[in-house]
Amino acid sequence: MMSVETEIRFSLNGRPVSLKVPTTMKALAMLRDRLGMTGTKYACGEGECGACTIEIDGKTVNSCLMYAVDCDGREVVTIEGLRTPEGLHPVQQAFVDHGAVQCGFCMPGMIMQARNLLANNPELTREQAQRGLEGNLCRCTGYTKVLDAVEAVAATNTCGGRANP
Ligand code: FES
Ligand code: FES
Repeated sequence: MMSVETEIRFSLNGRPVSLKVPTTMKALAMLRDRLGMTGTKYACGEGECGACTIEIDGKTVNSCLMYAVDCDGREVVTIEGLRTPEGLHPVQQAFVDHGAVQCGFCMPGMIMQARNLLANNPELTREQAQRGLEGNLCRCTGYTKVLDAVEAVAATNTCGGRANP
């Protein structure tokens, strides 16, 4: 079967991009294979694990479930968009400081989700963080330190509203 391609334009980590993608391509495949954003991970491919979490227009989504063409005209942020020339995003730094990272595979999705939760509720409680991160699975099962890190960012109110200022 011939694959149909369509041209899309959107903002990726604050920069405009345009490319042709097959209409059947998932956003995750486009980000990783066409745009080099390999920080976003492929694990279950079925919306169950959160490894592929990105932000679209300020909301987190599982990019393995979304079609690339649906990024057209939107603001897309991946884990690569969080770091600034000054250094790691406060949420990234807190994960490092609290030893929340084990193998690291789930971390981009976990951090994207945690940052979004904190941006929408700077006074996020531990319980709210736990509920908000339920869709992000860690095979290394290091959830306690993840929650410690999120709690620390909430306590110091250092998250900031935007993913990539
Ligand atoms: S790879 Fe998308 S939810 Fe698991
Ligand atoms: S740190 Fe290994 S899967 Fe989460």
